[in-house]
Amino acid sequence: MSLKDRHLIDTSDFSIEEINAILDIAQDMEKNYENYSQICRGKILATLFFEPSTRTRLSFESAMLRMGGNVLGFSDGETSSAKKGESVSDSIRVVSSYSDIMVMRHPKEGAPRLSVPKAMVPLINGGDGGHQHPTQTLTDLLTIKNLKGEIANLSVAFCGDLKYGRTVHSLIKTLSRYPHMKFYLISPEQLRLPDYIKESLSRKYNVSFVETEDLESVISEIDILYMTRIQKERFFNEEDYIKLKDSYILTRAKIANAKPDMLILHPLPRVNEIHPDVDDDPRAAYFEQAEYGVYVRMSLMAHLLGVV
Ligand code: NCD
Repeated sequence: MSLKDRHLIDTSDFSIEEINAILDIAQDMEKNYENYSQICRGKILATLFFEPSTRTRLSFESAMLRMGGNVLGFSDGETSSAKKGESVSDSIRVVSSYSDIMVMRHPKEGAPRLSVPKAMVPLINGGDGGHQHPTQTLTDLLTIKNLKGEIANLSVAFCGDLKYGRTVHSLIKTLSRYPHMKFYLISPEQLRLPDYIKESLSRKYNVSFVETEDLESVISEIDILYMTRIQKERFFNEEDYIKLKDSYILTRAKIANAKPDMLILHPLPRVNEIHPDVDDDPRAAYFEQAEYGVYVRMSLMAHLLGVV
C-alpha cells in the first residue's frame, strides 16, 4: 500500500486501511519523534489559505518544519494574486512548481477538487467552505484512538452547527466506516445535518442516528461529545446568526450526568459553546486534540511524499 503522490480532498479518497496506516505512523511520530526529524529535508510545503486559519495552517507548517522541511505560502487571499483575479487553478499550477506538497483552504465548496487536475504535486484540502475538512478528521480520529484505545463501538454526539460545520461532515462520514458506531445529531432545527449526508450515511453504511435539539436528554449515553462553533461566516444574514449563536453552551452543570470517561472534543476555535470552566474537567480533550493535529499532519505529508 502506498499513498505516494496521492491527493487528499475528501476522506473517502482513502481506504480505512490507509487512514489507519496514517494514524499508526502518527502515534509512532509522537513517541519516537527524533527518528523523523530529518525525513523531509529539502522538501517544501506550500500553504495556500484563501480563508482564515490558526490551527490548520500552523500545524501543517509546524509538521513540515519538525520533519526538517521548509514552508512557504500565504494566509490571506487578499495578499495573493487571487486579488488580481487569478483563478485558483492557475495559482495551483504555478505553486506546484515551487513546492513538493500543497495544502489549500478555500471558502468555495469544491475548489480543491476542481484544482486537482492542475496540481503537479500532492494537494491536501485544508477545508472548503461548508463542505469538508479531511485533515481535521484525521486529527479527530487520532485523538479518539489515543484516548479511547480503538475506533469502534462508540456513541458519538455532534452538537451545534451541523449544517455548515465541515469538520462534522467529514468526521461523521468517516466514523460511519468504522464498526458499530452510533450517532446523536444535536442541533437547532435550522442547523441540522444536510439531507444529502444523512441519506448517504443510511444508504452506504446503514448507520443509525438520533436527531434531537436537546443535549441534556441524551448526555448520559454519549462516549464522545463533539462540540462545534456556529459558523457565522456561512450565514446569509446576521440576524439568523444572532438568533442561533448561543444555542448550546456547555457548562460543568450540563456534564454532571455524563459518563466519567466521556471525551469532549472541539475542532476549535470556540466562541461561546464551551464555558472555560469545563477546560479543567478531565473529560475535556480539545487542547490535546489540537496538539495531535501536528503528528497526524506529519504522518499524512510523509505518506504523500513517500518518505515513510
Ligand atoms: C474548523 C474549520 O476551519 O472548519 N477549524 C479548524 O480547522 N480546526 C472549525 C471552525 O472553524 O469552526
